[in-house]
Amino acid sequence: MANFKKANSLGEWLDQRLWGKAFIKVMMTEYWVPKKINFLWSFGMVLATLFTILVVTGIFLMMYYKPDVNMAFDSVNHTIMQEVAFGWLFRHMHAVAASLVFLFIYIHMFTGIYYGSFKSGREVIWISGVLLFVTFSAAGFSGYMLPWGQMSYWAAQVITGLFGEIPLIGPDLAVWIRGDYAVDDATLTRFFMLHVFLLPIVIIGVICLHMYALRAPHVNNEDNEEIDFETEAKKYLAGNKVGSKVMPFWPKFMAEDIFVVCLVLALFCFLVFYSYDFAMDPINFLPADSMKTPEHIYPEWYFLWSYEVLRGFFFSSGLGLIAFAIANVIFFVLPWLDRDPLVLPMHKRPLMKYWFWSLMVTLAGLTIYGKLPPTGANAWIGFVLSIAFLGLMLVALPILSARERKNREAPAVAPAFNPKPKATATQAPKASTTAPEPKSEPKAAEAVAPESAKVAEAQPAKVSIASAPKTKPKTTQAQETKASTTAPESKSEPKAAGEQTSKDGKQ
Ligand code: HEM
Repeated sequence: MANFKKANSLGEWLDQRLWGKAFIKVMMTEYWVPKKINFLWSFGMVLATLFTILVVTGIFLMMYYKPDVNMAFDSVNHTIMQEVAFGWLFRHMHAVAASLVFLFIYIHMFTGIYYGSFKSGREVIWISGVLLFVTFSAAGFSGYMLPWGQMSYWAAQVITGLFGEIPLIGPDLAVWIRGDYAVDDATLTRFFMLHVFLLPIVIIGVICLHMYALRAPHVNNEDNEEIDFETEAKKYLAGNKVGSKVMPFWPKFMAEDIFVVCLVLALFCFLVFYSYDFAMDPINFLPADSMKTPEHIYPEWYFLWSYEVLRGFFFSSGLGLIAFAIANVIFFVLPWLDRDPLVLPMHKRPLMKYWFWSLMVTLAGLTIYGKLPPTGANAWIGFVLSIAFLGLMLVALPILSARERKNREAPAVAPAFNPKPKATATQAPKASTTAPEPKSEPKAAEAVAPESAKVAEAQPAKVSIASAPKTKPKTTQAQETKASTTAPESKSEPKAAGEQTSKDGKQ
């Protein structure tokens, strides 16, 4: 057993038992974050704040909400909104936070895509993030059902009905999900359980995984620079705070985050007090009526894009369902659809930047058309946009990223086969046929070096070597490594250069 000394204070007593100081050091004061990041890197903390608001306000709402089809609507619209002190405030806060959470999830997600933070070591961060998106979507959908208004009821009818369309198991699955043959009391109570208990627990677990997954690969940065965190942290701790490329999570990184969180909270307060209706559908202020279908059924704004993919194939519900299923899981495999392992922001990717902005425009279009009635020209525009979305994700992304990688690697191969300046070509046979002469050796190597060095300069050395084509002669790789690091030393080096130049000569 550990040897405990007599503690001089309660803090010391607890620290001996819980290692509080060490924990704070590992998690906060000596957890290193790159300095070169912008405000977009604060949205993770914004999301954590909004989730906390959702939990706290949800607890208050739960005290008065009744998960019963005969009482749910009144418990929300009458009891909470009119009878309970500040009940309206908690409801507005909950609804506005739910809408904002999706706005910031999308911004956070597309920031990750823009800066390439989803691949090359950050796959688990990404997958846990998409899992958060899916669990938040389930929480948003189940929560939307709880007021038991017209839209709650009919949205539940449509979405649970989708499962019924799955071949073979569909009808049984739909009954299993609803807990009844139709959307009714059993459906409401189980969605209530999901919304207030199971999903929040899963979300908390996945948020922990998401944050933990950040530790090994570290947070990305604006320039996608490969930072040696250990060395930079030592610099920082030694007092060179300006020269170091990293800063501690606490207090530096959090100070910036708190500033952005405050700005978001100002927007949040404005929406809660002056514009809360943006998060609520007027049709949902009518009680659910299974005998009266609303003229036009649509989900909340954050589901409109995937809903439009579902409706886009208006001539075949089966195809629509497949497209909808793909749209909901495709982001999980994004790290493998992008065929270029190099992490770069979109503005430095000559082809992929067009892909990224086309995706943004397509998603915005899908969101707009998702709210319009799917008739006439709208139906065809929805179809084109759905095809565009699937094409961008399944076809354009792998092809463009692979092409971009090849284009980038091309110059790394070119110097090896390019005819070299005369001096090199004439030295070549000498170097390859006779024994190496000490004086000419470095010369031969040097003649190749500047070209290869240019390549090494154009791209990180790690990538130029790791991603070099398999057919590339070994000697070329050796030259590149040398050229990008130090002057030639070994005896085999000139020979390699000689062999190379003789090949060039032959060409
Ligand atoms: C409630 C939900 C979420 C919370 C609380 C959360 C929290 C965080 C935090 C605190 C960070 C580190 C700082 C930052 O970049 O903001 C982060 C990074 C990251 N998150 Fe999330 N996140 C959530 C949802 C998501 C979703 C839905 C995705 C993507 C589908 C995602 C993908 C990422 C990625 C790729 C990074 C790494 C960014 C980098 O290295 O630069 N997150 N998240």
